[in-house]
Amino acid sequence: MPDKPKKEIFNILFVDDEENVLRSLKRLFIDDSNIEVFTALSGKDGLEILKSNEIAVIISDQRMPEMSGAQFLEKAKRVRPDCVRIVLTGYADVNAAMDAINKGGAFKYITKPWDDTDLMLTVLNSIETYRLKKENRRLTELTKNQNEELKKWNTELEFYVQQHTVELTKRNKELNTLNEKLKTNLKEFITAFSNLIELRDKSVRSHSNTVAALSEGIAVKLGLSEQEVDVITTAAQLHDIGKIGVPDIVLVKDDTELTQEETEEYKKHPVRGQAAVDLVEELREAGMLIRGHHERYDGNGFPDGLSGNKIPLGSRIIAVADKLDRLISGGSSRLSLESALNVVKSLSGIQFDPELYGMLHEVAKEKITIDTGAADAVEVELRPKDLMTGLIVSRDVRSGTELLLLRKGTTLNERNIETLKRGYHIDPSKSGIFVWKRKK
Ligand SMILES: [Fe+2]
Ligand SMILES: [Fe+2]
Repeated sequence: MPDKPKKEIFNILFVDDEENVLRSLKRLFIDDSNIEVFTALSGKDGLEILKSNEIAVIISDQRMPEMSGAQFLEKAKRVRPDCVRIVLTGYADVNAAMDAINKGGAFKYITKPWDDTDLMLTVLNSIETYRLKKENRRLTELTKNQNEELKKWNTELEFYVQQHTVELTKRNKELNTLNEKLKTNLKEFITAFSNLIELRDKSVRSHSNTVAALSEGIAVKLGLSEQEVDVITTAAQLHDIGKIGVPDIVLVKDDTELTQEETEEYKKHPVRGQAAVDLVEELREAGMLIRGHHERYDGNGFPDGLSGNKIPLGSRIIAVADKLDRLISGGSSRLSLESALNVVKSLSGIQFDPELYGMLHEVAKEKITIDTGAADAVEVELRPKDLMTGLIVSRDVRSGTELLLLRKGTTLNERNIETLKRGYHIDPSKSGIFVWKRKK
């Protein structure tokens, strides 16, 4: 049970040198249980009472020996500044009462003889004034304390927030580092994975890298987001990963030489590629692009026979890049970059998305010349005796019986020139050695 609110009792003090006056004043409040009456016969006694009791209202006679009412009230003010002070005075002493008010000791005066009802009312009103003053002081104090408490909380909260912000920033940084590390690991894994394909299928050495570089260039030119460019580049790097499951015989043969059974086997590689990367969540999106890299714009591709814009954009990009690289690096039937671009152009709108040709052309001009030496290089055919150190071989060099003597991209030095000369002497090739040479 909650406590009952305590009844508030107010103390009032009457000071008069005449005992019968005090008695009659006291009698007025005898029935009021909210009021306790103190009396004193002199200012000196009154001050003693004030020191040990909380008094709400003082009514003091003006004319008293030793200490006048005005003097007493002035002192009382110093002891109990909040209490309401009233001076009781005869008509003849109204000037003295005014003096008491002016000096600040008293709030008002009551003249003798007094009217009982008036006096009681004055006392009750004064008690209310005192109560309000006290309540006001209490609330002001409370507000002040609460403000201080709030200030303290705020400071503590600020400190707490600051501490946590520091902690969060630190953790965020750690997570970012971890994330970057994971991304790097994934990229390294993709490169290692794509190298595996090229180990299997030596005819397409560096095919994955070239297709990835071309696809990335086109995706950037299309203004795709960094994340989209990333997915397309990854898919391009891994687009032929499904060839790992294709029999060797199928890989070494030209497309046109495949039997129907071998063609069926070959056509499985896009789906196999998707299935191979699907286990890695970060590669799933790239997997969908891998699946679509042999779809044709006219709908005659595989595995799903999609056409036009139903083929994912990334797959359409990889398809043109793939074709171009196969044309410029494919065995004996390889073409110059210009001729290869013309072939792709002639197939635009049939096999390839016609929107992509312009960008493929630009990107190929930038990337392929850079990859094969300097931008101002031209391809020339030399006989073994004309070779010079420092030149870069532009096509794989094979002997008459197709034995690989030197890889495309190798820089000539005295040792490999000697090897080539010997190879050409023992097993002569019909063609010369193709190298990049700077334009004069
Ligand atoms: Fe392929
Ligand atoms: Fe390919």
